[in-house]
Amino acid sequence: MSKGIKVRMNNSTLVEPSNNEVKIGVRNLDLFYGEKQALYSISLDIHENEVTALIGPSGCGKSTFLRTLNRMNDLIDGVKINGNIMIDHEDIYKTTDVIKLRTKVGMVFQKANLFPMSIYDNVAYGPRMQGMKNKKELNEIVESSLRGAAIWDEVKDRLKTSALGLSGGQQQRICIARAIAMKPDIILMDEPTSALDPISTLKVEELIEKMKKDYTIVIVTHNMQQAARISDKTAFFLSGEVIEYDETSKIFSMPKDQRTEDYITGRFG
Ligand SMILES: Nc1ncnc2c1ncn2[C@@H]1O[C@H](COP(=O)(O)OP(=O)(O)OP(=O)(O)O)[C@@H](O)[C@H]1O
Ligand SMILES: [Mg+2]
Repeated sequence: MSKGIKVRMNNSTLVEPSNNEVKIGVRNLDLFYGEKQALYSISLDIHENEVTALIGPSGCGKSTFLRTLNRMNDLIDGVKINGNIMIDHEDIYKTTDVIKLRTKVGMVFQKANLFPMSIYDNVAYGPRMQGMKNKKELNEIVESSLRGAAIWDEVKDRLKTSALGLSGGQQQRICIARAIAMKPDIILMDEPTSALDPISTLKVEELIEKMKKDYTIVIVTHNMQQAARISDKTAFFLSGEVIEYDETSKIFSMPKDQRTEDYITGRFG
């Protein structure tokens, strides 16, 4: 999994070399919910400081795949996984420190899921759980996280008021700030803008583009324009398989597989 080497995947998806290091290497990943298989032999490399988009019709396994990257599926009964996921060359299913993994791999969900507490306390929640008590340090991390999520100016005068009083778009950026406060390397986002209006969506998209210089971002989206606008690489999922994975510009301009073309041109899904 070294830099700049072309890898022919087992599903014959050729991934172009990237100037960025491989951050997440997935090999032959199968996932079962009980008897039902939801992911089939997925192999792909996700590169550092890039935005990787996961697209595909409803039920094709995008969220399931995303959750494997920080072992969120472990919380679901009867889930069985084969294959390997390497993050920074460490097999995350062989290391038992799931807490550490979830610190390194943060997650933002479709619906803002803030706690019924102040803006400040929401962002400080994770660092406090990790034992940070020093007021000055907490202030600093709250401010830098809110700045990192491009929402500091909007909330700096109301940090002690309830986070639930913010607009949906603002709440979603607070969720991003809460993820940033844990100092992750990787941020997973599952349809983070699907509940937002177009203006809030644009703000979050701009934010994601800016964030990639500091983080590796994997985003699930149903919005083709969004995938085309903000991602470097795109993986097209269908029925639990990755049909095609390539640079986003190629996926959207000259897909190799007819099924990818049908999906991105809106013929199904
Ligand atoms: N907790 C679960 N238990 C059993 N089956 C599940 C569970 N979660 C998802 N599935 C099944 O796994 C398959 C993939 O679901 P998943 O939620 O990953 O799809 P998705 O691509 O994210 O879809 P959507 O675009 O609708 O969010 C579906 O058939 C779904 O019904
Ligand atoms: Mg989903």
